[in-house]
Amino acid sequence: MTSPARKRIIVGVGGGIAAYKVCAVIRHFTEAGHDVHVIPTAAALNFVGAATFEALSGHPVSTSVFDDIDEVAHVRLGQEADLVVVAPATADLLSRAATGRADDLLTATLLTARCPVLFVPAMHTEMWEHPATVDNVATLRRHGATVMPPASGRLTGRDSGAGRLPEPGEIALLGDLLLEEPESLPYDLDGVRVLISAGGTREPLDPVRYLGNHSSGKQGFSLARAAAARGAEVTLVAGSTSDAGEPAGVELIDISSAVELSDEMTKRAAEADVIIMAAAVADFRPVAVADAKIKKGTAGPAPIELETNPDILAGLVQARGRGEIGADTVIVGFAAETGDENGGVLEHGRAKFARKGCDLLVVNPVGSGKAFGTADNTGWLLSSAGTETALPLSSKTLLASRILDALEPLLKRS
Ligand code: CTP
Repeated sequence: MTSPARKRIIVGVGGGIAAYKVCAVIRHFTEAGHDVHVIPTAAALNFVGAATFEALSGHPVSTSVFDDIDEVAHVRLGQEADLVVVAPATADLLSRAATGRADDLLTATLLTARCPVLFVPAMHTEMWEHPATVDNVATLRRHGATVMPPASGRLTGRDSGAGRLPEPGEIALLGDLLLEEPESLPYDLDGVRVLISAGGTREPLDPVRYLGNHSSGKQGFSLARAAAARGAEVTLVAGSTSDAGEPAGVELIDISSAVELSDEMTKRAAEADVIIMAAAVADFRPVAVADAKIKKGTAGPAPIELETNPDILAGLVQARGRGEIGADTVIVGFAAETGDENGGVLEHGRAKFARKGCDLLVVNPVGSGKAFGTADNTGWLLSSAGTETALPLSSKTLLASRILDALEPLLKRS
């Protein structure tokens, strides 16, 4: 038995060129202290040798149900697993898994596993879009597996499009989420259009300087990652970020200033079923932006005159009230609070919820190393239904999944 923190993870590797990227995923899980067993298909070994997988996992590698017969490995490995990650999941492997084939050690293991299973497809766009693959993916999701949307970009050869293996860090974060989730991740946001803002804004002073903030964008990117894995069509409008990841299957729009963010959110709001304002928006911007670099001079620092930025969240709520965006659009805000002599974090959060008029507000304690830039987050979720739910300290991806859970009673599905 492994300890509660040390999980047993099977990494199944399919026969695709992206197999080499999975080495970084294996390394992530072993460095986190987990017990990792690698089960490649025979085809995968054309791309990465068994020696690499054995060295990275510390366990012998086999592709066949006829090795270690006395240990009944084809049954035991799946039964004992806490998580199975299959990457790259080729079109052939998805097909075999969807139809319940058991013609090698990996597919036999998939049939015996009762833990969360994450498929990470990688293939050419035509194969990904083929109705056979679409059906196989739907079947696997129906069976309870999580199938990560592939990234778009350069494929093998000269092709480019959907079908690229997501970055190893993204696979690892989703794998971590499945280890943390008490049950398998629901595929409950299929077709729901989710518009998310993330990261910090930069308010320019001159061509080289700006006023900014410490936001890393991790919470907003985690929402995008979890929402996409749960089936949502995600648009992520991102300001400045740090180490926030590259969620796959998500439309990414880069912005810099609060005004740019306001323009993008306003333009896209009418197309969204859910809007989540996770960005750390500057409340003020310099009135004047110098065309040339401001020189130090001899007179000492000149004061910076500021003007107020639009309150994007409040503006979106008002736009909904005026009928400019759908009355059923769910609007979610964040409150970054330190607490002060006038009240604690939650009290400030309640006051902000009343002021902003959104449907859900995530209240985060910030400052003193909390929330900004960290991998973990905590707080409260306030809902227009009057509930206040404590969000225990967890990874930002798990917290994101809890926030998405709270959408269900608010979503009006047509
Ligand atoms: N927000 C916004 N536009 C702004 C400022 C904030 O849309 N100009 C959004 C944030 O994305 C977040 C929520 O409003 O969802 C609360 O942001 P926060 O910085 O906590 O609060 P402020 O509205 O700036 O209020 P205060 O500075 O008084 O805490």
